[in-house]
Amino acid sequence: MKTPDARLLHLLRHAGEPLLLSELVAATGLTPEALEAQIAGLREAGFVIEWQPHLGCRLLETPDRLIPDDLHALLGPEGSAVAREIIVFEETGSTNDLVARMARGGAEEGVALFAERQHAGRGRRLGRTWASAAHLGLWFSLLLRPRFPLSEWPRLTTWAAVAVARGIEAAVPGSRVGIKWPNDLYLKGRKVVGILIEGSAGEGGGGYAIAGIGVNVNHLAGDFPPELADRAGSLRMSIGPEAAPLERPLIAAALLRELGRLYEQLHDDFTPILAEAESRTLLRGEWIKVTTPQGEVEGVAEGLEPDGRLRVRCADGTLAVFSGSEEVVLSYWQR
Ligand code: BTN
Repeated sequence: MKTPDARLLHLLRHAGEPLLLSELVAATGLTPEALEAQIAGLREAGFVIEWQPHLGCRLLETPDRLIPDDLHALLGPEGSAVAREIIVFEETGSTNDLVARMARGGAEEGVALFAERQHAGRGRRLGRTWASAAHLGLWFSLLLRPRFPLSEWPRLTTWAAVAVARGIEAAVPGSRVGIKWPNDLYLKGRKVVGILIEGSAGEGGGGYAIAGIGVNVNHLAGDFPPELADRAGSLRMSIGPEAAPLERPLIAAALLRELGRLYEQLHDDFTPILAEAESRTLLRGEWIKVTTPQGEVEGVAEGLEPDGRLRVRCADGTLAVFSGSEEVVLSYWQR
């Protein structure tokens, strides 16, 4: 953890009991005066910190805001391979667009860029927007420079879906996340996560991929635009009508942790990731209609190919295989 704030928050967030000033000084390497200034800064950012001269320092409340140092503190010394640098904007058009700009400017892999609100969040289908209301969800993009051949980049879709599903289940005990191919995540029959993978092959090894992830966290039914009201959900709604708001920084850290762990594994062995995607798929055995630029196909979703594409047994008995690109749309899905 690079900054004093991250080190201090790590200690405070993980301490079972009040920490003495002397313990904090020893652990952070700050002088008592610098430490006091640091604590004053955190209080200004919304952390409620109690400090009793002879008892020590305790973290009582944390703000409902995404703060890079706090996310680093939650990730701990292990960190996350996909979030070596964490950036938070209060508002932007689309986090994917900002990260693409950074990638073209030569930024290294491992940037995680969040926005508390997007006014032009993009969906997977061309021209679709993604509702990204302020402080209700997690809207973020990861800059990746995969070290495997371009032909295998479609695996990123499966990786992101499985990692985010795992992260949600780690942060929301008792939840069971299903994947609607290629990478929409569902909880209790409602879509709670959308994933948009974009990329550029680049020249001379300058290629990059962007994993854009939108997670509805604290929405209540009335927070969605009317056209989404019957199918969109949030992590909070999935717990029940009385559920209290969830702590978004904890969920963000859980997602970054799983995305980082699984990203490493993706470079070694895709097979277990694919097997987990299969076990989570909501489509298997369902009658679906797939629309592509070449036309429409109806049939039964059989499962996933070794590279993550969807295998469909068509009405005439033939087999068809579809990639998860933006031109491929499941226009009908009977549950
Ligand atoms: C979909 O289900 O259509 C995909 C939605 C992806 C939304 C996320 S939010 C963060 C990132 N920035 C964007 O503009 N879109 C993705």
